[in-house]
Amino acid sequence: MKILVIGASRGIGLETLKLGLAMGHEMSALVRNPENISLEDEHLSIVRGDILDRESVDKAVRGQDAVCISVGIKPTRKPTSVFSEGTKNVVDSMRAQSCKVLLCVTGIGAGESRGHGGFMYDKIFNPLFLKTIYEDKDRQEMIVRQSGLDWTIVRPGFLTNGPKTGKYRVLKDLSGVKSGKVSRADVAEFILKESSERKYAGHAILLTY
Ligand SMILES: NC(=O)c1ccc[n+]([C@@H]2O[C@H](COP(=O)([O-])OP(=O)(O)OC[C@H]3O[C@@H](n4cnc5c(N)ncnc54)[C@H](OP(=O)(O)O)[C@@H]3O)[C@@H](O)[C@H]2O)c1
Repeated sequence: MKILVIGASRGIGLETLKLGLAMGHEMSALVRNPENISLEDEHLSIVRGDILDRESVDKAVRGQDAVCISVGIKPTRKPTSVFSEGTKNVVDSMRAQSCKVLLCVTGIGAGESRGHGGFMYDKIFNPLFLKTIYEDKDRQEMIVRQSGLDWTIVRPGFLTNGPKTGKYRVLKDLSGVKSGKVSRADVAEFILKESSERKYAGHAILLTY
């Protein structure tokens, strides 16, 4: 498959690029600073740009079978709109270019996963340091849900840099669930699997061990 990753210079996005190449996909990355990506591969193409810049998004989306959004910013108390505005750009571009499959990484605490992170996260860390980010992730999820695309919202639990295990839970129903950890490598594995299988199309799922 031809898969575009936006937010690919590190974290889940970079893991997705690396694993996708290892699996034989044609991978592309939209990145603000291409020099930050040390990967070299004949099946990797890099577009310089920004999720907030529609022109570069259009260029990156062209010819793709699937798009993965995995952008992130540092904890902040300031209002942000990078998730919602960026995702709107991607959705509009995908619709205009008939690219259908969108996997969007948000996180535990977005949408109805709010309140499923455990006491410290739900009552202290998220309200203090992630409130504005998760307000915008809520807007982002709504844009994805209303996009008319073939979408999956991927909400990882608490991220680690641990190995790919393939042994994570994929949860649609969070009744009685408190999220645990999951590695970025396992999130990448799910994203690539789901890009082709589409088992969770039209769902928001939590990934946790
Ligand atoms: N930390 C956790 O426990 C946790 C739990 C659940 C969900 N999440 C979410 O999971 C996602 C991935 O997190 P991560 O830690 O793996 O990665 P990350 O370190 O947050 O990396 C974020 C990526 O987004 C890119 N980016 C930021 N703004 C951009 C823009 N305007 N245009 C294009 N790219 C942009 C960054 O590129 P540059 O190099 O250009 O900055 C970077 O490649 C985030 O949304 C995070 O909130 C985190």
